[in-house]
Amino acid sequence: KKIVIPSLSFFQNELKGEGVVKSRRTLGELAGIFENQDAYSQLPLDQLAYEVYSYLPEREGTPGGLYFGITQLYPGKVGDEYFMTKGHFHQQEDRSEYYWGLEGEGMLILMDRERNTWAERMMPGSLHYIPGGVAHRVANTGNSVLSFAACWPSDAGHNYEEIANKGFSARLVEVNGTPKLR
Ligand code: PA5
Ligand code: NI
Repeated sequence: KKIVIPSLSFFQNELKGEGVVKSRRTLGELAGIFENQDAYSQLPLDQLAYEVYSYLPEREGTPGGLYFGITQLYPGKVGDEYFMTKGHFHQQEDRSEYYWGLEGEGMLILMDRERNTWAERMMPGSLHYIPGGVAHRVANTGNSVLSFAACWPSDAGHNYEEIANKGFSARLVEVNGTPKLR
């Protein structure tokens, strides 16, 4: 039986923007997340790193509701690190989330409260359960756009602070052409 996955065109054509919020992050907005500052400073700050199409049918903070989003993460590297999302814990720590791969290749980087970091390969059809209390970030390890979908509770919220200040306890870097946690 064919599995039908929601695509970006579904979002653009079917939802006609109703309740759909489009947000974007440039490399300039990712300042501080990459290790190699020289490589980072050579890239244009206004270069687009990723876009998120979110369907937010409930008011933010509504208990019991669900949000849905598609992230399009562009390919690229900063030194030996891949373009990646900012990464966050949830504001309400115990809230969990699903990510699933739609297009392209990537790695989901996860870190628990004890700062143990691990990673899961993302590909079309891969499903990733992110338990509460686990920070999450995605890196595009391929040469094309990485597209993934997400579903999270409407009262989860995003807490970027700890990751912005302390990062993850391991970095995903390219070693001899393959992604490795270091
Ligand atoms: O809710 C999520 O976890 C995702 O929709 C992310 O917000 C999205 O992938 C962008 O990543 P970040 O919020 O870490 O910038
Ligand atoms: Ni999240």
